[in-house]
Amino acid sequence: MRIDVLTIFPGILKGPLQESLLGRAIETGVVDVRVHDIREHATDRHHQVDDEPFGGGPGMVMKPEPIFRAVESLGLGRKRVIVLSPAGRRLDQALVRDLAAEPWLVLCSGRYEGVDERVVEGLPAEEVSIGDYVLAGGELAALVVVEAVTRLIPGVVGREESLARESFEEGLLDYPHYTRPQEFRGMKVPEVLVSGDHARIEAWRRRAAEEKTRRNRPDLLR
Ligand code: 6GU
Repeated sequence: MRIDVLTIFPGILKGPLQESLLGRAIETGVVDVRVHDIREHATDRHHQVDDEPFGGGPGMVMKPEPIFRAVESLGLGRKRVIVLSPAGRRLDQALVRDLAAEPWLVLCSGRYEGVDERVVEGLPAEEVSIGDYVLAGGELAALVVVEAVTRLIPGVVGREESLARESFEEGLLDYPHYTRPQEFRGMKVPEVLVSGDHARIEAWRRRAAEEKTRRNRPDLLR
């Protein structure tokens, strides 16, 4: 799978792409992530990537031309282009699964007040948001998409089982986890988890997952 990220701040992405699961997946070639500086595709003397909004108002809007040129520089092939924007469709695990099935994603991080709407209309591109809050730009959101998608590529996460059972995959949050020591500062690991009785452990985890979901995310149960 290939993922190209377009940004005016490539430095925000560099570090995180080198660490942990993402770093390993990229190093081993399971996913090919390339970061591009949109500014290098601006053609004017000052490499301008943003300008004032038509109609007035605060802030700056990212110009369409450098973004179109950056996408066109990637070469031929069917790409699914996504603009990261708080005004986009909200990302969830179903959308992550859908994106993970694509051979080639292009993620465009917006800064300032947003991206010229003709990017969405003309490329065309889908707008995706990572949640109902506002970030200074789409770079961290693009990283979220890259990581969520990459960990679904077969072989990236160790035991396939751990993917099937985690939060959201069964409409519930994950059950609580415990490790050694069995007693920590007076707090004990639930007895059932050390009982060796796998049917009882399974039943306890189901109930605990439902309880956690009711407490933290009642909207998921409705
Ligand atoms: Cl994709 N961008 C920005 N700037 N803020 C966000 C977001 C994206 N998703 C949630 N908040």
